Amino acid sequence: MKATWILPDGRKITAEVAPGTTMMSAAVAHDVPGVIGECGGTLSCATCHVYVDPAWADKTGSAGEFEEAMLDVAEAPRTETSRLSCQIEMSAELDGLMLRVPGV
Ligand code: FES
Repeated sequence: MKATWILPDGRKITAEVAPGTTMMSAAVAHDVPGVIGECGGTLSCATCHVYVDPAWADKTGSAGEFEEAMLDVAEAPRTETSRLSCQIEMSAELDGLMLRVPGV
């Protein structure tokens, strides 16, 4: 399955992502700048913040309660489609997913 990260300067990074892999782990594995994943996916750092492309927002769903709270302390401003990418797992439904990396 594929996912694409769009960087603040418009550059795109597309990578193969195995199902069940979190989009934070996939970003780190493919050296996507700006997605750090400092806490290793335990919802305690918000350095994996991304903006889900609006066309995909229905499929990725919305943030859970704790994720919501963490998004409030993310470095970059929140948008309607802000998510912590350690909470999004690749699946057949998300094949082709597009995520924007916030510029800070
Ligand atoms: S990796 Fe820390 S909150 Fe997602």
